Amino acid sequence: MTIDETLRVAVVTMPDQIDQEWIARLGQDPRIGWMERVAILSTGLEMVKQSRPDVVIIDRPAVEAEEFIRQIFTSLPTTTCIALTSLTDINVVRRLMMAGARDVLVRPVHYTDVLQSMSDVMKIEQDRRSRHMVSNDHQSYGRGKFVVVISPKGGAGTTVVSTNMAVALRQISAGRVALADFALQFGHVGTILNLFSRHTLQNLLARSNEIDDTILASVIQQHGSGVHVLLAPSSPEVAGEITREQIRAVLDGLLLRYSYVIADTWCVLDEVTMALLERADDVLVVTTPEIPALKSVKFFLEYMAQHQLTCGRVSIVLNRFPSVDSISLEDVQQHLRHPISANIPSAGQLVTYSINRGVPVVLSHPQSWVSQSLRTLAAYVAGEQVTPISLEPEKGSTKNKSKSNAGGLFWSPRRQTSP
Ligand SMILES: Nc1ncnc2c1ncn2[C@@H]1O[C@H](COP(=O)(O)OP(=O)(O)O)[C@@H](O)[C@H]1O
Ligand SMILES: [Mg+2]
Repeated sequence: MTIDETLRVAVVTMPDQIDQEWIARLGQDPRIGWMERVAILSTGLEMVKQSRPDVVIIDRPAVEAEEFIRQIFTSLPTTTCIALTSLTDINVVRRLMMAGARDVLVRPVHYTDVLQSMSDVMKIEQDRRSRHMVSNDHQSYGRGKFVVVISPKGGAGTTVVSTNMAVALRQISAGRVALADFALQFGHVGTILNLFSRHTLQNLLARSNEIDDTILASVIQQHGSGVHVLLAPSSPEVAGEITREQIRAVLDGLLLRYSYVIADTWCVLDEVTMALLERADDVLVVTTPEIPALKSVKFFLEYMAQHQLTCGRVSIVLNRFPSVDSISLEDVQQHLRHPISANIPSAGQLVTYSINRGVPVVLSHPQSWVSQSLRTLAAYVAGEQVTPISLEPEKGSTKNKSKSNAGGLFWSPRRQTSP
């Protein structure tokens, strides 16, 4: 048996079945570290969502069991379900398996049958998880990667980088990507993506203690690229009322459900920004190659180091580089005493065109140099072995102008003029 004494088990059964012998024996087995039994479905689901056991054994009529298992399968990636049924009808078994059950046992069961089933299921599950962790070494199972995009100086390109990178990440990884606009006052992720709604991050923060799939679905805006977006609050005064605990709870809820969570931020070192930085796996510090911006970055990097604001990787993204008359990469690195991890070339015409139409440039002009750089940056964030420094356009990309994807699948242009 591969069960160890830390196994956490929940049994969901009928009120008149809660004292069955197999349940009592399971509760006494020294190999099970924690066991809870519940006979009311609604509280059972709540309990399972909060305690996140390794295994849920569900002994309810097939229709109820199916729905219960589906809810767990879709929201708790680290919890596996075993169903008990009195029916040997293959269609019932199929439906339970389709909902996400890992094994189906036929009643009446003996306690050793249940233990054996748990052991078999956990063995496969542990194998699957260890392989998953080897292939995605930066990610633990069930927790996405959290990326904070930040600049200590406004106008450096934080929002252009975060929105385009989120779309590019979705395209190249096929993972679930969430983009949250934490530029709490006057955030404009929505404008850049042409998304408008009165449902914003504010609604989620207000219910940060009870985040579940339903609450998230009511707040998330779905962009045509597949990126799920949390818009910034519509009233600026909300920013001052947000606590670190709320931010942490929102991030927990998102990271459980998404492969990547990207935060767009503003240039204020407040409680919100601190809470984001301390949780970040990756911090992308965006700057332009101009002295005032570089000075701010230098100060910001020193401040981060002194106050140990993050345990994540800190990478500098030099935006609008190269551009006409800009200083050299060496000079920038020397000034910052920090390597530049990535650059995004300046492409005023294309970026302005894309912003004004609410279409990220990686979609409107996918072949352009700026879009290729943004995709390489996304690959870097995803953990690929790439060097996202590109000082001239690669073969096949276009330096400035590129054929627009204006008739593309993802969006409808706000205006019809071409750059
Ligand atoms: N790579 C780029 N090439 C050309 N213009 C850019 C580029 N990145 C950003 N911009 C311009 O800079 C402006 C500010 O960018 P934005 O992302 O809103 O900055 P921030 O969020 O840091 O305040 C944009 O409106 C856009 O016109
Ligand atoms: Mg911004």
